[in-house]
Amino acid sequence: MQILPASILDLGPLRAIERACFDRDAWPLLDLMAVLTFPDVIRLKAVENGRMIGFVAGDTRDLGLSWIATIAVLPEYQNQGVGRALLEACEAKLTTPRVRLCLRTDNLSALRLYEKHGYERVDIWRAYYKDRADALVMEKMRGV
Ligand SMILES: CC(C)(COP(=O)(O)OP(=O)(O)OC[C@H]1O[C@@H](n2cnc3c(N)ncnc32)[C@H](O)[C@@H]1OP(=O)(O)O)[C@@H](O)C(=O)NCCC(=O)NCCS
Repeated sequence: MQILPASILDLGPLRAIERACFDRDAWPLLDLMAVLTFPDVIRLKAVENGRMIGFVAGDTRDLGLSWIATIAVLPEYQNQGVGRALLEACEAKLTTPRVRLCLRTDNLSALRLYEKHGYERVDIWRAYYKDRADALVMEKMRGV
């Protein structure tokens, strides 16, 4: 498995990953195009045997604070360390001392991954998702 820079050429596979992973919370096409093209976004893909199996995007929005905007691994490749590799590669390219992300409060796979990587709960956004589920906001402080 390789972690490589992603580009607009990855739009098709990224849509497939989004649909497979997020169902109702999948990003619309325009958001996917934006994340693959906007300047200053870190976008990385996990590739196995020439197939894109995972994706992560991170961007810096405030002074000193970056966000992991999205991370996803195709279901058949989950729990094999791909998510961890994507998260670590993205964090390594972000230069801010703080990194944040948000997740559904019932997303235990993501919660475990983030807790293991030093993210701590800092906020809850009520009714953030389409089905009005709450979002947990987590933050990691780094010595960069
Ligand atoms: C969250 C997600 C990206 C994690 O990717 P992954 O490739 O499955 O994660 P990894 O295999 O790298 O696992 C990382 C760690 O989390 C733990 N973990 C992952 N899934 C787990 C599960 N279902 N149950 C228990 N622990 C789990 C593993 O034990 C692993 O710990 P380790 O590093 O000590 O071995 C993936 O599950 C996914 O795409 N989910 C759907 C989309 C999503 O929810 N994205 C996050 C939105 S905020």
